[in-house]
Amino acid sequence: MEKKNTCLPKKGRSRKEILGELRGFGKKDPDYKKSRTWSLVYYLGEAHTRFLQQAYNYYFSANGLNPTVFQSLKRLESEVVRITANLHHGDREVAGVMTSGGTESCLLAVKTYRDMGRDQKKIKRPEMVIPVTAHVAWEKGAKYFGVKAVHAPLDKSLRVDVAAVRKLINRNTVMILGSAPEYPHGMIDPIAELGEIAKAKDIPLHVDACLGGYLLPFAEMLGYPVPLWDYRVAGVTSISADTHKYGFSAKGASTITYRNIEILKHQFFVYENWPGGIFASPALLGTRPGGAYAAAWAALQSLGESGYRKLTKTILETAQKLKSGIEAIPELEILGKPMGSVFAYRSKSRDVNIYAVGDQMEKLGWQIDRLQFPEALHAMVTPLHAAIVKKYLQDLRQAVRAVRGRPELSETGAAAMYGMIANIPLRGMVRKSVLKMFAEMYGPDAKMIDAATANLSADDDAGNGGDFAARMAMIYLKVKNRFKKLV
Ligand SMILES: Cc1ncc(COP(=O)(O)O)c(C=O)c1O
Repeated sequence: MEKKNTCLPKKGRSRKEILGELRGFGKKDPDYKKSRTWSLVYYLGEAHTRFLQQAYNYYFSANGLNPTVFQSLKRLESEVVRITANLHHGDREVAGVMTSGGTESCLLAVKTYRDMGRDQKKIKRPEMVIPVTAHVAWEKGAKYFGVKAVHAPLDKSLRVDVAAVRKLINRNTVMILGSAPEYPHGMIDPIAELGEIAKAKDIPLHVDACLGGYLLPFAEMLGYPVPLWDYRVAGVTSISADTHKYGFSAKGASTITYRNIEILKHQFFVYENWPGGIFASPALLGTRPGGAYAAAWAALQSLGESGYRKLTKTILETAQKLKSGIEAIPELEILGKPMGSVFAYRSKSRDVNIYAVGDQMEKLGWQIDRLQFPEALHAMVTPLHAAIVKKYLQDLRQAVRAVRGRPELSETGAAAMYGMIANIPLRGMVRKSVLKMFAEMYGPDAKMIDAATANLSADDDAGNGGDFAARMAMIYLKVKNRFKKLV
């Protein structure tokens, strides 16, 4: 049983001991340095990491809360925003801020357009039309800011169906959204067509380029066929782009830019009657981490156009090799035709359960992300993956062989859990169960959940293994019996 440090030590401990212990906690974390993960981490090796840490450390304690105090941070922020606006073909009018990450950037756009719709068009019941593939941060924004998310379906190419978007717009629509690219399949929505609708109907169009913002510009320079997605599309009114993803900076940094300051003004918060003083804030956070802005600035300056071009070339060539290798496995197929760094693949054989393939891959040491609707596995390629293409494809072929004709493998482990979750028609039950799981993780017992094996465990309750999977299985069977026709 592991010792937990849940009591504040009566007396401070030695720094050496603490640092040793901290390092130890990470022993079982995914081995991202050996390219075993496919999202979450954008690692370029030790030299780049140490450089970012140094840049971060210079501004470790600096606070961007008040832009008039740490003027250094305001400068760093302005320069990152301007570089980003230029990359996205914005003119001098484009204005924006740095945020703590993609989610904050997306949330802010929802708030901005809700307020703008209210102020300019007196919209009281705001709605936004978003593709079903919009990142979940948009659903969060809808809930947090009371904007109804109206979901537009995809066309056969897995891009948002433009005709459907047009039909879903009504007088309460405060914004529409396209992604460049979207997270699940890596497809770029038809931004030019969405822009025409946005212009014609006078509705803001946000492009979520959290993933593509620092990749697509360089892909275009390299001659890849990138459809227009940025400020060159007249209807685009704002863009989110994450420096902490393909900008290869430290975590906690993203950007949101708007076509002009008049739109950005709707994002600002000012409260003039607080006893603590007049308060103004450009984004969501109060205290804003100076280190993250410094590291983002440093990454852009250090890599430069040539560095990003080189990285993008490696990423796109690696992604292409992986996609071709996967397509060459008769039982598998890539979803859609993603041109960039993100893609998903599924099984086209009844004999191969794709989630079971995921389990086999995890047994072989890979960290695998799973999708639902349809069931698929996901990959987000970084330059480091160039070194493991052969091994990944070799392991994938082995995993498919191991799973082929063995349906029982889809009924055990994570495959069973993800299969159940994807197939329960009453989504409210899934939601309830996940909320319960979260309550257990964040409640007084702080249980740890291993999603891969769906095991629940806690120091004081280690015998609770498989609880979550069992619960999901029970719900699934209940629903299946009740709604046989639906499943
Ligand atoms: C398209 C897109 N938008 C937004 C986000 C949210 O970004 P973050 O995880 O930095 O909050 C992501 C994350 O992967 C994304 O892929």
